[in-house]
Amino acid sequence: MSSSKNAIVVGASSGIGAAFARTLASQGYRVALLARRIPELEKVQRGIETGWGEGRARVYENDVCDYEAPPALLAKIEEDMGKVSLFCYAAGVMAEVGKDEYDFAKDKKVLDVNLTGAMAWLDEVATRFQARGEGTIVGISSIAGDRGRRAFPSYHAAKAGLSTFLESLRNRLFQHGVQVTTIKPGFIDTPMTRGMDGLFWLKTADEAAQMIWKAVRRGRSTAYVPARWGLVSLVIRSIPSLLFKRLDI
Ligand SMILES: NC(=O)c1ccc[n+]([C@@H]2O[C@H](COP(=O)([O-])OP(=O)(O)OC[C@H]3O[C@@H](n4cnc5c(N)ncnc54)[C@H](OP(=O)(O)O)[C@@H]3O)[C@@H](O)[C@H]2O)c1
Repeated sequence: MSSSKNAIVVGASSGIGAAFARTLASQGYRVALLARRIPELEKVQRGIETGWGEGRARVYENDVCDYEAPPALLAKIEEDMGKVSLFCYAAGVMAEVGKDEYDFAKDKKVLDVNLTGAMAWLDEVATRFQARGEGTIVGISSIAGDRGRRAFPSYHAAKAGLSTFLESLRNRLFQHGVQVTTIKPGFIDTPMTRGMDGLFWLKTADEAAQMIWKAVRRGRSTAYVPARWGLVSLVIRSIPSLLFKRLDI
């Protein structure tokens, strides 16, 4: 990993992104915290500065659906903080969809935030990191992208797209000394999952962030969080379509 310890977390105002920003701060990083809700970002910033000192976190407003923003914002962050060596894309949304509902507006929103917004950032970061011959990219995808279940069609599709995009980046950037780690969480207790039924093996966002950091430090390509979800995925991926379409999962 690079010697410069500046990081960007996109989607740092709550849940996994906020927890991962705290974990990075605990590892000596200065962190740029990005999202839309400034008051929430400032809370995360205060927590980091209380724990690890003044100037350890900076807040930047960013709507990931503003696809033109990343080049200028990345340049501004590097002007403020110095060279960024770790980039994490954690922004994500999940839309409630009824069993018999097919709603393009909802689907588009999910794609816009989880996939297109990620590409807009990742293309810019990949360009910089490749030119420098170093850097670490962390993408928070999901086990939900491993198979198209009935529950959330566009979320499954967006996360499948993100996982595949990250794999392509990894395969391109490996030869340039850049690490790309794909994180596939199971159920994590965050505002996204609060109130959902049927959750099990629930981990806190802070527990997930520790596991994510461990995977990044070990140079993992893909990590399920926690690891046991990798076995679940193996089982789910091995179910033939003939049977899968009959299962209410
Ligand atoms: N919780 C789980 O069980 C679970 C499981 C698998 C994968 N994941 C993934 O983990 C990631 C983090 O989710 P979470 O569970 O921590 O949920 P969360 O607490 O709701 O966090 C979502 C984050 O995404 C940001 N975001 C949403 N729309 C945005 C936009 N248009 N522009 C910029 N930022 C935006 C939010 O910030 P603002 O609203 O302030 O903009 C927030 O910081 C997501 O990618 C999610 O899909 C979560």
